[in-house]
Amino acid sequence: MPRLSADQRHEVRFTLNGHPVCGRAGPRLLLSDFLRHEIGATGTHVGCEHGVCGACTVQVDGMLTRACLTLAVQVEGASVRTVEGLAPEPDRLSALQAAFRRNHALQCGFCSAGILMSLDAFLKAHPEPDEAEIRDLLSGHLCRCTGYTPIVRAALEAAAEIQNSQRELTQGETAHA
Ligand code: FES
Ligand code: FES
Repeated sequence: MPRLSADQRHEVRFTLNGHPVCGRAGPRLLLSDFLRHEIGATGTHVGCEHGVCGACTVQVDGMLTRACLTLAVQVEGASVRTVEGLAPEPDRLSALQAAFRRNHALQCGFCSAGILMSLDAFLKAHPEPDEAEIRDLLSGHLCRCTGYTPIVRAALEAAAEIQNSQRELTQGETAHA
């Protein structure tokens, strides 16, 4: 397909991981390709490109979204969060990322970005999940390394850790009230 000239592309302004960004996209450019090739955010991976494997999962305005099923122009004005935005500081991993690291849940890493984005949103909505709920969530992700056990273990561990920190925070606030 011939490449569209600059004036046939639309300017797309949105927030990526808390920072305003702008790129140009043709009307049919996928969000996954836009993020990787136009914006340079290559943390989002592309597997099947038709909504099945979950590798490209990102959060758009807090909603889990398959970037390979979304047009770049659809995120105009939206807040997009990708795996690059999970760490609270450049040299500090989120509780979920750290649990993945401890439990060797990354394996080859190809599916990890999508799984992390799904689990991040899921743990916010379900702070005390059981293993069956986590496995149910993971059914939307295909891991070719077939190593779901360490991923489930990491998710349970992260959930417990997040709960503990929140409890400690609440106790600290109560003590100082
Ligand atoms: Fe989007 Fe597989 S690449 S779901
Ligand atoms: Fe290798 Fe999932 S970790 S595909």
